[in-house]
Parts: sequence; structure tokens; C-alpha cells
Amino acid sequence: MQIKRYVLLVALALGCAKVREPKPYRFSMPLPLGDTVPQPAHNRATEEGVKLGRMLFFDPRLSGNGKVACASCHQPRYSFADSVALTSRGVSGKQLARHAPALINLAWAEKLFWDGGVRNLESLTFSPLRHPDEMGADLNVLLSRLQALPEYRRAFKAAFGTDSITSAALSRALAQYQRTLIAANSRYDRYQRGQLQLTALELEGMQIFNQHCARCHTPPLFTDGKFHRNGLPLPTQIDSARQLLGRQRITLNPADFAKYKTPTLRNITLTAPYMHDGSLPTLQAVLHHYAHLSDSVIKAHHLPDKSFRHTHQRALIAFLHALTDSSILYR
Ligand code: HEC
Ligand code: HEC
Repeated sequence: MQIKRYVLLVALALGCAKVREPKPYRFSMPLPLGDTVPQPAHNRATEEGVKLGRMLFFDPRLSGNGKVACASCHQPRYSFADSVALTSRGVSGKQLARHAPALINLAWAEKLFWDGGVRNLESLTFSPLRHPDEMGADLNVLLSRLQALPEYRRAFKAAFGTDSITSAALSRALAQYQRTLIAANSRYDRYQRGQLQLTALELEGMQIFNQHCARCHTPPLFTDGKFHRNGLPLPTQIDSARQLLGRQRITLNPADFAKYKTPTLRNITLTAPYMHDGSLPTLQAVLHHYAHLSDSVIKAHHLPDKSFRHTHQRALIAFLHALTDSSILYR
């Protein structure tokens, strides 16, 4: 009798030991900044969490009509941006007001969206998920749909220790996956680490860049994370006041009118078309834009001055190409 009880206890103990703790995620190196990836204490990435986040990111079953995934508008081959100016890939087929940006190095971003209206990846998730023109999901319906799928019950259990699926766990997993989308191994990075030499043309471009662009597109993230107007003309046909306001929508400060978050220039060769409205189709068009600003606009917004017009544009474009880390295509 005694022995039997003992055997039972050992068996129970072994059974418990089988519920494995998720393993801390090992981020791919190198990093663009510092030697660790910034993460909130309550949601540190694990192998299991990232795997689940990836599964969710590419799964159209998250949307109201079962056809739209996060990856429909954030496609790996475009550095997780979209290839059209204003996407209409959402469930309603209606065009969105802004261009879908690249999702890289967002662990280092302090504000998200073009107007900086969201502070962290965990809370952002629900906006595209529920938006009627993006994924149009009803959260309760979605959670019970996932709950009914054995592969998701298993994956949530492995990542969060319970197979009762919650919206908090869903958004945490998606945030963990997005923090792994790191781009920091371009030719420029390898040059910075002394692993290769850039060409004379690229080096010339880097000089022009440092003089005229780095103030806002500040290395190593190639964004200052702040909000500026870069001289884009205001839309003549304003169908959405919200779109026009830019940063002012969040701060309510008139000085922030039509300002947008400086986008990173890493992987810029993969993410055309450009700007918050996708209005410039190529890098040549972007440089043409910066080279033809009026004096008053240059002065008002601290944009590249007239001397920029006479710089070697081919060199600058060569440098921008050196910021591409194509390993992002395989995440
Ligand atoms: C129908 C297209 C579409 C879908 C689907 C979509 N997004 Fe987006 N996403 C956008 C657009 C457009 C923006 C820019 C919105 C803005 O800034 O106002 C954006 C912005 C973002 C940003 C902000 C990036 C930055 O640099 O500030 C993140 C993060 C993001 N989306 C994650 C997701 C996730 C996660 C999902 C799935 C749950 C998703 N998106 C689904 C179109 C989409
Ligand atoms: C005063 C700050 C500032 C300076 C200086 C500046 N930019 Fe920008 N840049 C921005 C902002 C802000 C945006 C986004 C504007 C928008 O969408 O309305 C942007 C957008 C871009 C984009 C589009 C990125 C994308 O993902 O859509 C490119 C490319 C670019 N800038 C290149 C340059 C180059 C090259 C220079 C130097 C010649 C330069 N910028 C100088 C602030 C600046």
C-alpha cells in the first residue's frame, strides 16, 4: 500500500515536470542599437510565444471574413510594408487613409503609427484586428474560433501555460513576434563594424546623407522617432480630416499640424511607394521632392537646404541601397 502510494507520487511529480517552461527567445544578432532588445517586463519573448505570434500574424482566420491576415498588408518581401500607396486589402475592400509602413526594429520605437497615437505593440494589435476596413474581427467571435482549433490550444498552452485563449495573450504573442523583425545587417552595418569597405560612390552618398538627412533620419535606427513636416504638399481633396491633422490629432497642438513620424530608411529599397500617403513612387521621386522645396518651406521645417540641389544624387541613392538587410525576407 505504502509503496503504491509512493509510486503514484513519483508519477505525479514526473507528470508535472513535463509541463515545460517556455524558453527565452534568442534574438538574431546583430542589433541596430545596444546589446539587448527592449521588451516590456510583462511580455518578454519566448521561443514558444514568438512561434505562436508568427502563426497568428500570417493567419487570415483572424479576420472577420477569414481572408485577411496581418501579413496581407505587411508582407515579408516588402520588409513587412505594402507595395501599394494606400492599401485596400482589408475585409471591406475600402482604401485606407495611410500607407502601411514597414514593421522593422519596432522594439526600439517609442511611438507607433504615422501620428504616434499608440505607445506599444501590445496595445496596437486590437486596432487593425477590429478596424472594419482592416481585419474587421469581433474579438469574442475570434477568441472562440481560435479556442476551437487544437493547434492554437496547443500553441497558447506552450507559450502562456494555459489553453484558455485570451485577447491579452493573443496580442502579447503578436508583439513578441514583431520584436523579432530586426534589420541590422546591411552593407552599411558591416562597414560600421569594419567587416567590409563601402564603394567610393556609397561613401560619397553617406557624406551627403550625414549633411542633409541624418538630422531626422538619424543612424543607427535612421529615424529620430519624432514628428516633422517634410514639405509634402497638403492634399487638395481632403476626404478625411483625421488624415490631414497628422500628429495634431494626438497632441491637439496646432504646431503639430500635418506632422508625421520620421520613417526609418533601413530597407528603404524594399518599401516603395513612399511617405504616409504613399504619394512618391520611387527614391528618385523622393530626392526630387527634397531638391525642389521652396525657401520658406525649407526654413519653416529645417529641411535640406539649397546646397542639396547640387549634390550627386546617384551617390545618395547608392548609399540608401546600402541600408538594405534582405534577411528580413525570411522571418
Ligand atoms: C488592411 C491592411 C492592414 C492590415 C490587415 C494590418 N495592418 Fe498594420 N498597418 C496598416 C496601415 C495602413 C498602417 C498605418 C496606419 C497609421 O499609421 O495610421 C499600419 C500600421 C501598423 C503598425 C505601426 C508601425 C509603425 O511603424 O508605427 C504596426 C505595428 C502594425 N500595423 C501591425 C499590424 C498587425 C500586428 C496586424 C495584424 C493584427 C496588422 N498590422 C494588420 C495596414 C494594415
Ligand atoms: C526635418 C526632418 C527630415 C529631414 C531633414 C529629411 N527627412 Fe526624409 N522624411 C521625414 C519625414 C517626417 C518623413 C515622412 C513624411 C510623411 O510621410 O509625411 C520622411 C520621409 C522620407 C522618405 C520616405 C520613407 C518611407 O518609408 O516612406 C524617404 C526615402 C526620405 N524621407 C529620405 C530623406 C532623405 C534622402 C533626406 C535628405 C536629403 C531626408 N529624407 C531628409 C523627415 C525628414
